[in-house]
Amino acid sequence: MAVGIFDSGLGGLTVLEAARKRLPDVPFVYFGDSAHAPYGVRDADDIYDLTTRAVERLFDAGCDLVILACNTASAAALRRMQESWVPREKRVLGVFVPLIEALTERQWGDNSPPREVAVKHVALFATPATVASRAFQRELAFRAIGVDVEAQACGGVVDAIEEGDMILAEALVRSHVDALRRKMPSPQAAVLGCTHYPLLQDVFQEALGAQVNVYSQANIVAESLADYLERHPGMIGPGTAEAYLTTGDPARVSNRATQFLRREIRFTAA
Ligand code: DGL
Repeated sequence: MAVGIFDSGLGGLTVLEAARKRLPDVPFVYFGDSAHAPYGVRDADDIYDLTTRAVERLFDAGCDLVILACNTASAAALRRMQESWVPREKRVLGVFVPLIEALTERQWGDNSPPREVAVKHVALFATPATVASRAFQRELAFRAIGVDVEAQACGGVVDAIEEGDMILAEALVRSHVDALRRKMPSPQAAVLGCTHYPLLQDVFQEALGAQVNVYSQANIVAESLADYLERHPGMIGPGTAEAYLTTGDPARVSNRATQFLRREIRFTAA
């Protein structure tokens, strides 16, 4: 029994950690494609090729269900994968929809027409590829009307986190928040649309101010995964062992991951 969690690098660990807490009996296999991070500056074909290769590896590791804990892959590759690549007995799910359901206060699978929602001004912080895809605005438009979204492409933040340079990452977050505020001075909500960003959630919150409701995906996705598995228990695949796979240098990636999660994590070569 194992569920796969994929990210371009370390960001998906924020989702993995929340999922482990919510579902302590489910073993997770994590795949971080650190050798090819960041994805956020790549084009859609490249992201599709890298993501399908990684998901294939997770299928081989005994996962029938894989969560793309990467907004960039969810935005740039997921639809194409679901339409023409994912085998019938497997599932690959993204991280956008649960977040948008939380933002618009919708229940899972509520397919009623879009309606007015409480939140009107939303700041989206994401990678350049996610922002360019406009996938967030598209999913939101299926569910809500009258929501003004201002997107800020946060160049450099994922690279700095992957390199472990948190001082640079913090400085970049503050400058991206400033840039966003010049376009939207008073957002009501801010969406951290990249799974690396919860590692800097306090910095986003402080720069945005306490009045801004900051949504990050970890707990929202974990809750939605628990709900999905309750309805589809057969999707917990045949794998039984927890594992951490990386395309990067296992020792280096293990050190960073241990530092972020404050528990010992040992990656092996994917
Ligand atoms: N954590 C990935 C995401 O959620 C980062 C993408 C990247 O590698 O640039 O978008």
